[in-house]
Amino acid sequence: MCNEIQRPLAEICSRYPQDQIVVVLDRRVAYETAYPTLRLEVSEEHKDLSTLTQIWDFFFAHHLTRSGLVICIGGGVLTDMAGLAAAMYKRGVDYVNIPTTLLSMVDASSGGKTAINYHGLKNSIGVFAEPVETLICPNWLHTLPAEQLLSGYAEMLKTGLIEDNVQSDNVQCTKDNVQGTKESLWNRLLNYDLEALDEQSLAPLIADCVAVKTQIVSSDPHEQGARKALNFGHTFGHALEEVTGYGLRVTGTMPHGYAVLYGMIAELYLSVTRLGCPREPLQHLTQLMLHYYGKPQCKCSDREQLIALMQQDKKNERAAEINCTLIRSIGEPVINQVITPDEAAEAFDYLFSL
Ligand SMILES: NC(=O)c1ccc[n+]([C@@H]2O[C@H](COP(=O)([O-])OP(=O)(O)OC[C@H]3O[C@@H](n4cnc5c(N)ncnc54)[C@H](O)[C@@H]3O)[C@@H](O)[C@H]2O)c1
Repeated sequence: MCNEIQRPLAEICSRYPQDQIVVVLDRRVAYETAYPTLRLEVSEEHKDLSTLTQIWDFFFAHHLTRSGLVICIGGGVLTDMAGLAAAMYKRGVDYVNIPTTLLSMVDASSGGKTAINYHGLKNSIGVFAEPVETLICPNWLHTLPAEQLLSGYAEMLKTGLIEDNVQSDNVQCTKDNVQGTKESLWNRLLNYDLEALDEQSLAPLIADCVAVKTQIVSSDPHEQGARKALNFGHTFGHALEEVTGYGLRVTGTMPHGYAVLYGMIAELYLSVTRLGCPREPLQHLTQLMLHYYGKPQCKCSDREQLIALMQQDKKNERAAEINCTLIRSIGEPVINQVITPDEAAEAFDYLFSL
């Protein structure tokens, strides 16, 4: 348990009847509590209706009412699912998020998007429901496997690509925040030594990424416009995740952040060809991919299937279109870019040729 969040958590819990507090916990996270706890086996393939009903059964078994509180502790899969369970249970019960992966700290645990996968389509059933609080403590990262740290780092790179003007002073983060640093977030992310990746040195960067997300979400909570910038890399990324059956149909797995990184390379390629974005970010991201992440384990012959999946993406506004966020330059996202299947195929060809 992170000592830094004990006090804020106790303060939040003091606002609720003590017999109306339950915990939904990622099984891989070490956490002891007196509150009733549901320990869940967490994985993308279990981010589904059956796990959702398991969480609801747990709520009913403990006679949770609408005046209660659900404490969600885990990575993005856990907080997405437990948040959705809380948001729908008896028309909504409060929940607090305690993210324990890098990806969930910088992205999934804030902003109020909750979801499960349905018929293999990523996050296609869900609601917007803000947690009452998100308590971030980088110390959890101590036990996180390197692959999962890299996965989270990919979402941080996304943040640096879409927004360079960072105001981190309003973030609730329990480690030291660096405020008002002049160097751009993107440059700091590129210069960060990924060989020496640890929770201490990551803390200021986490704070800045959270600040960017908070700023974007508060300007557009329900993703009518500006928030779509956060989807950069995700139209191609989700299709890659889906076509690999969340790692079931190919050797190895594809953590969410890896799929987003591959998606960003495809979408940066289109940013260059369609919007005249400079090539440097594409080159930098490609180098990072080859050095740390490896190439996508997905065959070119999957291309038609990938495009069909993109046409089902929940971000599309019209049937069968493909809607992406691209960038004109670093910090300049361009939303609602409708691309043709041929353009999508060309971007996949580029990605698979690397
Ligand atoms: N709601 C949003 O806005 C949003 C944003 C981005 C991503 N997401 C979703 O987040 C999910 C990915 O989240 P994730 O990357 O955290 O994956 P995850 O939740 O699957 O966690 C990755 C792995 O790490 C384990 N784990 C968690 N905390 C640990 C710790 N401290 N030490 C050791 N192991 C630990 C988990 O059990 C799991 O095996 C995706 O489903 C994605 O769609 C949601």
